[in-house]
Amino acid sequence: MSLYSHLVEKSPYEKIIETVDFIKHKTSLAPKTSITLGSGLASFADQIDVEVKIPYSEIPHFSPPTVEGHPGQLIIGKLADKDIAVLQGRIHYYEGHPFEHVMFPTRVLGVWGIKNIILTNAAGGMADGIQEGCFMVLTDHINLMGENPLRGANVDELGPRFPDMSEVYDRALNEKLEGILQKHKVDYYKGIYAAVSGPTYETPAEVQYLKQIGAGAVGMSTAPEAIAAKHMGLSVCGISCITNLAAGISKQPLSHEEVKVTASRVEKQFCSFLKEFAQSL
Ligand code: HPA
Repeated sequence: MSLYSHLVEKSPYEKIIETVDFIKHKTSLAPKTSITLGSGLASFADQIDVEVKIPYSEIPHFSPPTVEGHPGQLIIGKLADKDIAVLQGRIHYYEGHPFEHVMFPTRVLGVWGIKNIILTNAAGGMADGIQEGCFMVLTDHINLMGENPLRGANVDELGPRFPDMSEVYDRALNEKLEGILQKHKVDYYKGIYAAVSGPTYETPAEVQYLKQIGAGAVGMSTAPEAIAAKHMGLSVCGISCITNLAAGISKQPLSHEEVKVTASRVEKQFCSFLKEFAQSL
């Protein structure tokens, strides 16, 4: 080891390994499923029999979120007899983080051994007939964030340079989730998630454009994590809580307050179907 080796920046993969080692030392559990909780949906974590809770600020190379409604901790524990990992809160591109930081927690989970990545988010709905307070199972996404999160040197240890994206959201997971949504009599849609960078909400003209290109809902997250997970060959499932009708379809101005209020209104239903889904994997 040279005198200056501590000054050499670690490679992205070395950082991931360092974080995975840190997590392995904190827990005896080995979950196969993780859930990333979106805006206003953090209370799902209350159902977990917690083994360890680690604030992102204490995890090497994790960036703490700055947005209200995103607590920012990794929770590892049990949901009935299943080991589970929960990212309670995420960081977003609009906060100024580079995509490498946005993808980092998902990549760590994948290298640690998670196979099923469940991504949840709050989104604005635009599909015909979609209502505030219902859910949308993601069948696909359109990445309009302005950049591909995998741009730059490929991390060969994680996946190929040109990853296939023809089925980002796993059909088998979606079928299972839909069965549970139907059983719980949850009002849900299936559709395409348009991922935008934010932090502004869309203009009505942008919403009309997104609707014309096939989107059913719009939000500021999820696609980077889904791309990172798919790059690694993981099974991804995405679900949006439609917290508001998208701009121009909604009769009122959009606000983060409305997003949080709607999410908390449907939180109980969200917790119960998501719990059953996670246990079934
Ligand atoms: N647009 C973008 N992101 C969102 C919205 C929206 O209408 N609602 C919740 N997150």
